[in-house]
Amino acid sequence: MHPDSVPTRGRTLDHAAPVYDICEPVVMMGRQAGYNRQIIALLSLQKQHRVLDLGCGTGALTRAIGDRLGDAAGGMALGIDAAAAMIRVAIKKRESATCRFEVVAAESLPYEAASFDAVVSSLFFHHVDLDLKECALREAFRVLRPGGLLIVADMHTPSTLMGKLISYGARWFLMQPEIGENISGVLPELMCKAGFEQPRLHAMFFGYIALFATRKPQGTPS
Ligand SMILES: C[S@@+](CC[C@H](N)C(=O)[O-])C[C@H]1O[C@@H](n2cnc3c(N)ncnc32)[C@H](O)[C@@H]1O
Repeated sequence: MHPDSVPTRGRTLDHAAPVYDICEPVVMMGRQAGYNRQIIALLSLQKQHRVLDLGCGTGALTRAIGDRLGDAAGGMALGIDAAAAMIRVAIKKRESATCRFEVVAAESLPYEAASFDAVVSSLFFHHVDLDLKECALREAFRVLRPGGLLIVADMHTPSTLMGKLISYGARWFLMQPEIGENISGVLPELMCKAGFEQPRLHAMFFGYIALFATRKPQGTPS
C-alpha cells in the first residue's frame, strides 16, 4: 500500500495507478466517453451543484462532471479514493477550478451531513465487501441533501451471455468475492436499506454493468 493511502478493507488500486488510464479504455471497449455521458445525463447538473465521486480512480468521470459546473456559482466535483497513488494521478492530470480530489475512504467520509447535491460512483462497489458496501451507502446517504441523487454504475446480475462470461470470469479469475456479491444483485436492496428510495435501473452496459439512480427522500431530516 502507498504510505499516504487510507487503510481500508477495500481493494485499492495503488499498484495500477500508472497504467489505469491505458487499461480502462480496453476494459470499457473504447466506450468510456458514452458511458460517462449517460451517468452525467442522470445527474441533471446545475452550475452550483456539489457532486461527490466515490472511488474516483484517476478522476476521468469526476473531471467530466466538474467541467459542467460553475466555479463562480460554487459548483464543485470532488473525487475521493482510498488509494493515494490514484489521487496523485488524478490531481496531476485532472484537477481544475471545479474539480478536486482527496485521499478518503468511502466508508468514512469526513464531510458534513447534507453537504452534497449528488453522489456518484462508477465501478467502485465491486471493490468492497458487503459490510463496506453498506457503510459506504450509509455515508453517501448522510452527506447527501434531502432530495439529492445517488447514481451508481457497477457490476450487477448479468443480462446477456457475454455479460455472464465477463462477470463470472472476473469473479473467479480475480478471486474476488465482492464481485460475486454484485452478481447476486445486492446493490438495489442495500441502497434501500441505507434509506434511499427504490433505485431505478436505467441501463446495462456490456451486459454486466448496471446504471442505477435513486434519491434520498425529500422529507429526510438532515
Ligand atoms: C475500478 S476502480 C474505478 C475507478 C473509477 N471510478 C472508474 O470508473 O474508472 C475502483 C476504485 O475504488 C478504489 N477503492 C477501493 N476501496 C476503496 C474505499 N474503501 N474507499 C474509496 N476508494 C476505494 C480503488 O482504489 C480504485 O481506484
